[in-house]
Amino acid sequence: MKVFLTRRIPEEAIKILQTSGVCEVSMWDSDEPLSRAELLAGVQGADGLLCMLSDKIDAEVLDAAGPNLKVISTLSVGYDHLVLEEIKKRGIRVGYTPDVLTDATAELTVALLLATARRLPEGIEEVKNGGWSSWKPLWMCGHGLSGSTVGIVGLGRIGMAIARRLVPFGVRRLLYSGRAAKAEAAEVKAEFVPMDTLLADSDFIVISCSLTPETQGMCDRNFFRRMKSTAVFVNSSRGAVVNQEDLYQALTTGQLAAAGLDVTTPEPLPTDHPLLTLKNCVVLPHIGSATYSTRGVMMALAARNLLAGLRDTDMPSELHF
Ligand code: NDP
Ligand code: DGY
Repeated sequence: MKVFLTRRIPEEAIKILQTSGVCEVSMWDSDEPLSRAELLAGVQGADGLLCMLSDKIDAEVLDAAGPNLKVISTLSVGYDHLVLEEIKKRGIRVGYTPDVLTDATAELTVALLLATARRLPEGIEEVKNGGWSSWKPLWMCGHGLSGSTVGIVGLGRIGMAIARRLVPFGVRRLLYSGRAAKAEAAEVKAEFVPMDTLLADSDFIVISCSLTPETQGMCDRNFFRRMKSTAVFVNSSRGAVVNQEDLYQALTTGQLAAAGLDVTTPEPLPTDHPLLTLKNCVVLPHIGSATYSTRGVMMALAARNLLAGLRDTDMPSELHF
């Protein structure tokens, strides 16, 4: 069988495929993404496809692959780049990488929250540019977690892992919103509240839901307007959950204290984007799961998912849709 990998992955992960004896590997041998035309050409005749979150897998790609395609394995837990209706129609199985990146992503989200709230990038810049003239009572003050209320939108695997990490900082109340209350929320004493309450009461709001038609553009003018003007907003889910024009307005009109984003629209965010001119906006290049060990485990899991799909056996992590 033929498999196509849309990016260069390390030798260890490729070996899992090569030593299986079931497939011949062809790979886009670069750290940079392939173009749409290269994707359409590379996938032709493939039985298996290993893709990245930056590859849109829609009817056009599936048609280009042809009828042999039986499995798609994405190197991500998010699957908003996969057009599931089209994939389902063709009876193709999907593998993804939940759980193995939860700790790394939660850790990064907490780091981003602290960096944003305590103004770390701005402080570092002041040290370098001579803005640090002396210790001053109110200079470089930010917002602290101790005694605060944190609202988490989407208390899933990563949302829960963020909540667990925030408890030891002395957070007074943890709130969460979503489609339904979660039994596991009891572990961190998180209260399930309507979105209005979460927005009105939280000092920090963390977005950790998946991107769906319902959450697309959810954080808009109306959302920011209902937040405290001293609140800090953090998004480590997907950029499209946020209306960035509305976020810019909120950050420049004092409706919101600061924002930390690990994800944006588009990615990469153009270097002349207005959000990058703001001191109260910290933008990271989608590095939630970027630890060496996590990425290694993700790649091995994606390779094993692909193999299981080729062999028609149980996948270590199959997406059921
Ligand atoms: P989960 O599926 O465990 O969690 C997603 C959560 O989103 C669920 O609790 C779900 O609720 C909730 N949700 C869905 N719709 C809504 C809604 N309308 N309002 C509020 N909550 C909603 O996934 P993970 O925690 O593993 O991952 C979450 C997302 O994080 C991924 O989809 C991905 O986009 C992003 N991610 C980003 C990374 C980064 O590098 N920045 C790294 C890894 C993931 P319910 O349970 O009720 O369906
Ligand atoms: C995912 O897995 O969905 C992340 O965005 C990258 O790890």
